[in-house]
Amino acid sequence: MKLSNLKLTNYRNCQDIELDFNSDKILIIGKNAQGKTNILESIYFLSTLKSPRTSNNQELINFNSEKLSIESDIIKANIEIKLNYIYTKEKTRELKINGVKSRPKDFKSVLKTVLFSTSDLLLLRGNPSDRRDWLDRAISQIYPAYDDRLSKYDKIRIQKNNFLKELIKGTQFDETLLEVYNEQLAITGSNIIFLRKKFLKEIEKIAKEKHRIISETEDLKIHYDCSFLENEPKLEQIVEKFKNALKEKKVEEIRRCQACIGPHRDDIQFFINNNEATKFASQGQQRTIVLALKLSELDIITEKTGDEPILLLDDVLAELDDIRQNYLLKSINSKTQTIITSVDTVLFEQEFLKDVKIYKIENGAVK
Ligand SMILES: Nc1ncnc2c1ncn2[C@@H]1O[C@H](COP(=O)(O)OP(=O)(O)OP(=O)(O)O)[C@@H](O)[C@H]1O
Ligand SMILES: [Mg+2]
Repeated sequence: MKLSNLKLTNYRNCQDIELDFNSDKILIIGKNAQGKTNILESIYFLSTLKSPRTSNNQELINFNSEKLSIESDIIKANIEIKLNYIYTKEKTRELKINGVKSRPKDFKSVLKTVLFSTSDLLLLRGNPSDRRDWLDRAISQIYPAYDDRLSKYDKIRIQKNNFLKELIKGTQFDETLLEVYNEQLAITGSNIIFLRKKFLKEIEKIAKEKHRIISETEDLKIHYDCSFLENEPKLEQIVEKFKNALKEKKVEEIRRCQACIGPHRDDIQFFINNNEATKFASQGQQRTIVLALKLSELDIITEKTGDEPILLLDDVLAELDDIRQNYLLKSINSKTQTIITSVDTVLFEQEFLKDVKIYKIENGAVK
């Protein structure tokens, strides 16, 4: 899959910019605060309808404008597909594939990307919610319906929380209603857990190998950390355990007025030679894990969807040492279209720069 053209209108500070990406390696160079990340963000947005930086899409509209537009030509299996996204201050949006209005689910299934930015390097140091977010974003690129499951789960969880909060105000306790919520949470929640565990198993297999090559000797393990599960592989087993755990937690949940267990509380643990990486790994070791994970994401999306995603590297090379930089650049030297942002070209070897198309960005426009 290739991006052949990108046109941004009033997208953040990019008021009117058009980039022709007729190359597999693109370097976007510019001083700080010129719009490099904004360009990558807009590409990522087309593939997920989510920004990696904000959940408030209003922030994406240029400060002085009423609406933004992202237009792009994508070449997929030799066929050109046009994507167009418009979003306004009134919060209306328009999604079009080849000029025809489309549903979000179909729109998201066209373009696949893997974004690797400096903030990802903090994945292991971050909160469980950062790790869940990484996992959920990766899974939804493979199963576009996964987002719907997450929203459904969240909706029920919020309803249940509101119900529990009402009890404290003296509303009469409706045991049957709580049971209905718990039943629905166990079913939708277990689906999410099942897919997360499956994805982690698959990515572990690929990442283990990459991680061993970069680190030379170390062994990486990944574990889905859920308070009521041990190693149950089947969906029915997860549902069963979830239901039992909800029964056990009933009194505590009523006391705390919130849903205390489930996929919204789970975490992902990484182990290097059986030691938990968040606690014991050095910063470099943690970065190696993230690098292996990101490159594995690329492989796994290609394998599952039959399309090679576009790799977006935001400033990340400057943060890696020589060994990891080389490994990354060598790994992407295949047919993966890669768009890299950087403050300058000094980091890149002449050999690499030979086949690269370079854009200089200043003030949201091509210089
Ligand atoms: N809605 C918006 N309207 C106008 N400008 C915006 C909007 N949102 C962000 N900006 C501006 O866009 C500019 C460029 O941001 P961006 O993150 O793309 O910079 P960058 O080139 O990646 O810089 P760095 O090298 O520091 O990462 C910033 O100055 C920011 O204030
Ligand atoms: Mg940036």
